Amino acid sequence: MNAPVDSGPPLRGSASSPKNVLLGVTGGIAAYKTPDLVRRLTARGCTVQVVLSRGASRFVTPTTLQAVSGRRVRDDLWDDAAEDAMGHIELARWADVVLVAPATAHFLGALAAGLAGDLLQTLCLATAAPIVVAPAMNRQMWASAAVQSNCRVLTERGVRILGPAAGEQACGEHGMGRMMEPADIVDALLERRDGPLAGLKVLITAGPTREPIDPVRYITNRSSGKMGFAVAAAARAAGADVTLISGPVSLATPAGVRRIDVETAEDMYREVHRAVPGTDIFIACAAVSDYRPQTVAKEKIKRTESDMRLELVRSPDTLASVTALPNPPFTVGFAAETHDVEKHALEKLERKRVDMIAANLVGPTCGFDRETNALTVYWRGGRQHFGESTKCELAGRLIALVAERYRAERGSGTPAASRGQKPRR
Ligand code: C5P
Repeated sequence: MNAPVDSGPPLRGSASSPKNVLLGVTGGIAAYKTPDLVRRLTARGCTVQVVLSRGASRFVTPTTLQAVSGRRVRDDLWDDAAEDAMGHIELARWADVVLVAPATAHFLGALAAGLAGDLLQTLCLATAAPIVVAPAMNRQMWASAAVQSNCRVLTERGVRILGPAAGEQACGEHGMGRMMEPADIVDALLERRDGPLAGLKVLITAGPTREPIDPVRYITNRSSGKMGFAVAAAARAAGADVTLISGPVSLATPAGVRRIDVETAEDMYREVHRAVPGTDIFIACAAVSDYRPQTVAKEKIKRTESDMRLELVRSPDTLASVTALPNPPFTVGFAAETHDVEKHALEKLERKRVDMIAANLVGPTCGFDRETNALTVYWRGGRQHFGESTKCELAGRLIALVAERYRAERGSGTPAASRGQKPRR
């Protein structure tokens, strides 16, 4: 639970595009971002009713929130102006979704304990609408056993937790605990019906795999997972339903993305084949180990004076196995090369029978563990070079190109789910 979470996909059913958003704001420094959050929600067609906790107005003024939401901000359980003087019931019934951002440690505790200490806590008990919280607090507070236990209770009860994100904190520390950015909260809350990948299922692999030698040692590949995570965020921003299968990395899950964590190449193979039925586009960004130790020692191997030999066996090639399916999704592979990038990329395009391959040069000064990269993308009959820029920007351009090629090659772009794609046996 200490890992960043988005504990669920965008709201489904009647609440898939909630119109009436009850925004609870509690007393954390991130409350200063809530006018932007309100503005973004209203721009997407929502009506926003703000309810403040006692501490919140120390960080953001009711006047500002009233101006951006166009509605009187509520903060009092004892509100004579409310219909029947029962503001909590009236608001609880009005809401299609209750979003609490930022949600402080105190508020999460009160919600988990079922307290009714103020208007916001009381209406959370009284509402039948889904509750979504975006925690924000100091990293030690977030990591504390009490907060983690409260979050587990809330998740079990169906409360959806967005974030927190990692980064610089207001207290000067660095770590997990920042409120997810308003744009990401809005994307996670509302399903996009537009965007070049709207209605399509995209499956992405990212990060390295780890092949154990014994309980304390493993073989791995150099990969931070940054590119794959950026591609997942870009696909989600383009409106896709995204599943991300990741090896061990220390990165926050992009908002609205379903994440499955794996360790070995075999785990990755198994989870990809579990997720691939119904997938429209498969993008393999992971740096998968090609070999694994033939046997894994149960106990730590002791050092001796002599040399040691490891017997390695081939791991399954996930990407090649997906393109070999009877009715494969549109597939995009990655080729990280230290030399002859074009030659190896074109060879891989054919050998792995992928629809597109994104190639980049890797080495001590480029590719790995950096914020920037450059890519050349090849497909049968075309190529496009994207010069050096941030992995986020590159991912956005790559996704736009993938959407274009997908439409060109798969015609109408009818989603796999409606084409009746057969699961692999
Ligand atoms: O052959 P090479 O490993 O360079 O191919 C790279 C592409 O194949 C990447 O897209 C990578 O994610 C994928 N791959 C895979 N399973 C493997 C090895 C590579 O999916 N075992």
